Amino acid sequence: MKVLFVTPEVFPLAKGGGLADVCGSLPKALTKLGVEVDIILPFYRCVRNVQTEFNSIAEDLPVSLGWRQLRADIYQTELTPHIKVFLVARDEFYDRSNIYGTNKGGYFDNGERFAFFAQSVLAFIDKTGYKCDVLHCHDWQTALVPVYLKTKYFYHPGLSALKTVLTIHNLGYQGVFPAEVFGLINLPSHLFSIEGLEFWGQVNFLKGGIIFADFLTTVSPTYAKEIQTQEYGFGLDGVLRLYAHRLKGILNGVDYSEWNPETDPYIAARYSKADLSGKIVCKEDLIRLCGLPLDLVKRPLLGMVSRLVEQKGIEILLPVIEKIAQKNAAVVILGTGEKRYEDALSQMAARYPSQICVKIGFDNKIAHKIIAGTDMFLMPSRYESCGLTQLYSLRYGTIPIVRNTGGLADTITDAQLEGGKGTGFKFNAYSPDAFWEAINRAINCYEMERTIWYELMLNAMQCDFSWDKTAKEYVAIYERILKR
Ligand code: ADP
Ligand code: GLC
Repeated sequence: MKVLFVTPEVFPLAKGGGLADVCGSLPKALTKLGVEVDIILPFYRCVRNVQTEFNSIAEDLPVSLGWRQLRADIYQTELTPHIKVFLVARDEFYDRSNIYGTNKGGYFDNGERFAFFAQSVLAFIDKTGYKCDVLHCHDWQTALVPVYLKTKYFYHPGLSALKTVLTIHNLGYQGVFPAEVFGLINLPSHLFSIEGLEFWGQVNFLKGGIIFADFLTTVSPTYAKEIQTQEYGFGLDGVLRLYAHRLKGILNGVDYSEWNPETDPYIAARYSKADLSGKIVCKEDLIRLCGLPLDLVKRPLLGMVSRLVEQKGIEILLPVIEKIAQKNAAVVILGTGEKRYEDALSQMAARYPSQICVKIGFDNKIAHKIIAGTDMFLMPSRYESCGLTQLYSLRYGTIPIVRNTGGLADTITDAQLEGGKGTGFKFNAYSPDAFWEAINRAINCYEMERTIWYELMLNAMQCDFSWDKTAKEYVAIYERILKR
């Protein structure tokens, strides 16, 4: 069985968030299960920061975008261990400083950029004789692939047998564009209807993918249920309910060769369940890096590594940060995203320089240092499809404080102080008060019940969220759709 991952991100070549981690690690797990996996993504500028060698596979593949006849070039490189990565090159679309846009918003032509990508993937398969059985597509950026296959290419001899899986990593991003964009994506006009890609007068790429993919997955069982409700459905809950019989929630796994305190090259000292002494060294190192007072080593240090967008609960974080500072604890935040949040957080840090440190930027090394060097990790998400950073934190003995939603609900068990059970602190209501109550419980436990805190750390570090458990569920889906 051969699967081509069609994705806008893959770690370490191009990363905006957890989607990259999943597309970097799930192929490795599938390979272990005997599935052959290749990956295809756009040839962004950032790819060259990581990889320098590329082979040219095809030149000048014809791709139409509205009335324009464009050309795509395909290059190939490799990720360890022996995973082939194909890159769709067209510099006017992908040779830019960012993947999707700036902190002021997405690039104006994102609809065309990803319609071009989807069509180029199919042109690549058609024109080069590349063979695979399943196209596993990820998020709205690739959602037109199933749409083209089931409409434009329905009778195409080289493409019609291909099956598709579409994984929804985040329903909050759907690829919604003005109606004019429909004229640029070369689909039959009847698809601009309520049964097709039309969405309140606009065109919605993800909706198309949901309708036409052979199977849909999302990244945790609870999120699979939530997205079928009005509260979490972002207007697509009705469509998702309609196709619920071919929708499954499969929990994301962790690549423990990247996220493991016993081997992590980015942190100041290695540590394990058996010898936690290195964690204090990591904490001191982080305190120094942030210019915070060294006596914090004995006090609670909270961390957050996140895209700074509404989804991540920045709204309920802002009123709570000040309280944390007043409680003699400290917070370190690393993130990028919307300017309003970047500014608000930076102002907080300026007001409390010895308790709040905010680093605006995207930096994998600092992300590792925060996850290792803090005592607690904050995820007050309004919604969270799966969430990976809470899983990384568990392995580093950093106790997550999370809102009880989506993948956070599925992966964290609330601390029961009697008996030292649990792996984190959970809260339900999306409100600063509920969040504060959970933080307060955590800080009190850390300060007054050190033995119990230690037990929680051990419980957390023992959790196994590797792909070994869940990659099999994808294989079962590939097998099922190939039998049809
Ligand atoms: P999401 O995909 O919604 O952003 P996840 O928790 O699934 O959330 O994954 C986020 C990933 O992105 C993690 O690997 C995290 O370490 C990383 N990340 C997020 N923000 C930053 C940042 N500012 N710098 C470095 N890594 C970051
Ligand atoms: C999304 C979600 C996150 C999930 C990630 C990988 O960006 O926001 O919860 O972990 O995709 O699936």
